[in-house]
Amino acid sequence: MSAGSALPFGRLDGRRAFVTGGAQGIGAAIARGFIAAGAKVVIADLNIDGADGAAVAAKLDVSDAEAAREAVLRHGPFDIVVNNAGIDQHAFFTDTNPQDWARLIGVNLIGVLACTHAALPAMQASGFGRIINVTSEAARLGSRGGSIYSAAKGGVISFTRSLARENARFGITVNAIAPGPIRTPMLEKAVAKGGGKLLSAMTEATLLRRLGEPEEVAATALFLASDQAAYITGEVIGVSGGMGLGG
Ligand code: NAI
Repeated sequence: MSAGSALPFGRLDGRRAFVTGGAQGIGAAIARGFIAAGAKVVIADLNIDGADGAAVAAKLDVSDAEAAREAVLRHGPFDIVVNNAGIDQHAFFTDTNPQDWARLIGVNLIGVLACTHAALPAMQASGFGRIINVTSEAARLGSRGGSIYSAAKGGVISFTRSLARENARFGITVNAIAPGPIRTPMLEKAVAKGGGKLLSAMTEATLLRRLGEPEEVAATALFLASDQAAYITGEVIGVSGGMGLGG
């Protein structure tokens, strides 16, 4: 797209976005940010109670590939897909079982494949698309007590890079965001279980010595979705207070 025909900086007017896990936490901040930027947003979530009233809310379990296809086709076509829905689990690998593996990989990886697979053909036909996958610094650094989660999120990174290669010729960019510890219900639940020691370990692992806010992840998603990010694809962008450099 030439600079002359691009939307103004930070604007998504007329764009249609599908945001999974958009009813709370990071996904909700992304949905709010996109709506404020002028996009039409469909939130797909297991639990749509908290979904922003300005968005269309679709009840969906992203790990159900058939249901994901149906939801995308019913509410689409989409210019932007944010694969944000995710679940974690805190357990050493030896304490996990095949059901845990299937659940974590089902939501965190299969869910990304399912929504993307359903949305891509329309993007390819239109010659424009933005796929934004929410992975985790745990994928790049490893996570003690989060091996399956990290494995699934690592799969999301590899998928992002491969998909970027396959879709560049269609004008579709595919990028991932790797958050560090972000203040959301997911993190609060983990801290309630792990206690103050876990919270201080998380903040100490960042260079900035603090938790991130969902809006700080949403700002990166908004940029990646924008016309100004047209030359960025196949990237993994950490929003993690410098966690990738070590604490
Ligand atoms: P959260 O638990 O606060 O919100 C996740 C949302 O996803 C919820 O609304 C939930 O209902 C929905 N969801 C869960 N399973 C689903 C499914 N099967 N189908 C559809 N929706 C489903 O989580 P948070 O913290 O906002 O996380 C968002 C993403 O960011 C996740 O992929 C997570 O792994 C990732 N992340 C979060 C970090 C953090 O510190 N909060 C750090 C690194 C990555």
